[in-house]
Formats: sequence, structure tokens, C-alpha cells
Amino acid sequence: MNKLKICVAGATGWAGSELSRGIFGVNDMELVAAVSRRFAGKTLSEVLGIEKLTSPIFGTVEEALSTNPDVFVEYTKPEVAKSHVLSALRGGAHVVIGTSGMSSEDYDKVNKVAEEVNRGVLAVGNFALTVVLLQKFAEMAARYIPEWEIIEYAHADKKDVPSGTARELANRLSNVREARLAVPLSEIDGPIESRGARLQGTQVHSIRLPGYVISIDAIFGMPDQKLILRHESGSSAVPYVNGALLAIREVGKLVGVHRGLDSVMKF
Ligand SMILES: NC(=O)c1ccc[n+]([C@@H]2O[C@H](COP(=O)([O-])OP(=O)(O)OC[C@H]3O[C@@H](n4cnc5c(N)ncnc54)[C@H](OP(=O)(O)O)[C@@H]3O)[C@@H](O)[C@H]2O)c1
Repeated sequence: MNKLKICVAGATGWAGSELSRGIFGVNDMELVAAVSRRFAGKTLSEVLGIEKLTSPIFGTVEEALSTNPDVFVEYTKPEVAKSHVLSALRGGAHVVIGTSGMSSEDYDKVNKVAEEVNRGVLAVGNFALTVVLLQKFAEMAARYIPEWEIIEYAHADKKDVPSGTARELANRLSNVREARLAVPLSEIDGPIESRGARLQGTQVHSIRLPGYVISIDAIFGMPDQKLILRHESGSSAVPYVNGALLAIREVGKLVGVHRGLDSVMKF
């Protein structure tokens, strides 16, 4: 069997190192290159402590692309993600994007280049299969229940609000419809902040407190009944590995930009 050749940019980071371990653990993929500025010139075995994981670490994406990967995984920082992705596409690789925070303009540009070079890009804001399922169940609920709100919880020092997961969920629900408000925001009595932020037609409330890791509630209310869809993450990056491996296996069947893991899952 020909193994898929993979390059992971950000392979020494919190998420990328767990994914690199995951790639090492399957027999249909080979990690041919890693990108990390701090560890350039070393091998991943030196950084991750897995003796047989001898993939070379390069300081730049351009150098790493000399290994001709079939799939390039972007897992670094939003400021550099677009340029990494464009280099990888022009270098002939399909691309999986795990990095969050790229703008829709960035994605438009990436889509144009991906179509020109006939390569696929799969961008997934959250690879955790349980989050993907929450998103799907919430979309189903929004078709039948017109009123909902989101509450997301995170550790006290998480600066970005609302979380990427809450943003993605609000975005998906906006494709179904806007959540109905029994009392319009212009008519509420009291500080408007108490009703949270309105994000693409959904009220979103962000809690930041010690004691929380990451969790989210999508609450759908109807007279005398309610449905609460809740997701909770632990503190490791393990939940993101299986979804990323699925994305890596499937991206070669795509052309252009596709968003969300559900675009390659069967429901
Ligand atoms: N889609 C998902 O399910 C999911 C899950 C978890 C995280 N994420 C996202 O993934 C991204 C990475 O998160 P993380 O927590 O793993 O970050 P992190 O621990 O800070 O790791 C970042 C990695 O990127 C490398 N890097 C940073 N800047 C670079 C540059 N300019 N050029 C080349 N390499 C660079 C770092 O190595 P050097 O500093 O040595 O270069 C490191 O290996 C974030 O956007 C995060 O929100 C997404």
C-alpha cells in the first residue's frame, strides 16, 4: 500500500504534536516533514520522544515542501496560515487547515488558488467528532425550534470571545435561520450586555472562570419544554486527532475550499 505522505506545520505545538503522534500510529500515512522555527534541524523523535519518529523538522514551509507531501496540514498561527497554505497548494499538496482565525477573504483567495491548481482544501474549526455531532444536532433542532441561545464556558485566561466553536456554531445556525427573540433587543429593560452578544442571529454568552476547561451549551426553548445540547472538552489535544486523520484521508478527493468535517462525513 502506498502511504500518504504528510507534512505538519506546527508539529511541535499543543495540537500538532498530538496529531504527529496520531499519524505515527496509523499505517496508511507517513510523516515526511514537520515545520517549527524553534526546532529546525532536529527530528521529531528528539522533540516528541518517539524513537522511530525520525521526520525532519524544517524552519520554513518552503523547505519542508521539498519532501513533496501529498497532504500539508496547517496547525500554526492565523497570521501566517494563509501564506503557508498558498505555498503548499502551489507546491502541489492538498491542504487540511486546523488553524483557527483565517478570514473569509483569506478563504476566498485560497479557494481561487486551490481551484487553479486543482487541489482540495479542508478547513475544520474543530476536529473533535463530538463537536461535529453537536453542530449537526443543533442544525436539526433549529429547523424545528425557532428560539435558542448559546452559552460557552472556558478557563479564565482564554482571551478570545466568543470561542471559535461558538462562532462556528452561530455561523451554521444562521444558514438555517435567525433565532427568534420574544422581546427584541431594542425593547429590553436593563443593560443590553445582559443578553449576550448577537452573533449572526444567535445570542452568545461567554463565561471565563477558573475551574472550566472548554464547554458549550446550545439551548433550544419551547413553551414548557427545552432541549440542551452540551459538549465538554478535556484538557488534552487527543479529541482532535481522529477527525484530523479523517480530513487528511479525504481531502485528496476534493477540489477548492470545503469547510467543516461534516463535508466529508456520512449522515
Ligand atoms: N481545528 C481544531 O480542532 C483545533 C484544535 C486545536 C487547536 N486549533 C488551532 O490550531 C492552532 C495551533 O494551536 P496550538 O494550541 O497547537 O498552538 P501552539 O501550541 O502555540 O503551537 C503552534 C505551532 O506552530 C508553530 N509555529 C508558530 N508560528 C509559526 C511560524 N510563523 N512558522 C512556522 N511555524 C510556526 C510553532 O512552532 P515554532 O514556534 O517553533 O515555530 C508550534 O509548533 C491555533 O490556531 C488553534 O486555535 C484548532
